[in-house]
Amino acid sequence: MIILKSRQEIEKMKIPNRLVAEVLEEVVKKVMPGIATIELDRFAESMILKRGGIPAFKGYKGYPNSLCISINEQVVHGIPSKRRFKEGDIVSIDLGIYYDGYYGDAAVTLGVGKVSPESKRLLHATQKALCIGVEKARVGNHLSDISNAIQSYIEGEGFSIVRAFVGHGIGTSLHEEPQVPNFGEPGSGPLLKSGMVLAIEPMVNMGGSDVEVLEDDWTVVTSDRSLSAHFEHTVAITDNGPEILTKLL
Ligand code: MF3
Ligand code: CO
Repeated sequence: MIILKSRQEIEKMKIPNRLVAEVLEEVVKKVMPGIATIELDRFAESMILKRGGIPAFKGYKGYPNSLCISINEQVVHGIPSKRRFKEGDIVSIDLGIYYDGYYGDAAVTLGVGKVSPESKRLLHATQKALCIGVEKARVGNHLSDISNAIQSYIEGEGFSIVRAFVGHGIGTSLHEEPQVPNFGEPGSGPLLKSGMVLAIEPMVNMGGSDVEVLEDDWTVVTSDRSLSAHFEHTVAITDNGPEILTKLL
């Protein structure tokens, strides 16, 4: 069942989502060669707690940290560790926060120092795919219109869409119905209605679309070890169009 949120609920959801955007912005500023991923996790967690939020991923199905940090061929769910960033790495940072009954969720991918032109192209295309998907999050469209717009653009750029992981509804739970795939034929799935809130999150590989999970039972990597990027926004569908709740003003 897809839960529709009232205007008041969407207003309340703005708090955890704005927190996600603010913390991510501060974390991103600290990404540079030599920084260990666990340092970013500690920094993010203290910032979240100081603002009265609760890290949403920590403890979720046993996940150990507040951030997911996925480097290069890692797609999502990388666990923060002593690993240090190197010039040329591409780094996905994913953050969820719970505040007063509601969740917010967003992710960005960025380069460490100077990155290759192909990496830059992958980052730009994945971010643009998210924008293109958000544009389709309108009353009267079908859910798969979002999915199809993302897939068509990405495949046109010569990259591939991860199929094993998808976006999701979000609200009083981190994951609600519906699932939001980043691939599919247009014009199918539920009709989009005012009050739906979706976490749209394309995961895009430079090589093939297959992925596998490492021994730690969390880290998802590309099967061909090609680079991967991930961008995510939490988006409310309103009568006035899509509202990105995780965007900084
Ligand atoms: N943004 C991801 C999601 O939507 C992150 C989940 S990580 C987990 O599911 F640790 F919470 F599983
Ligand atoms: Co998500």
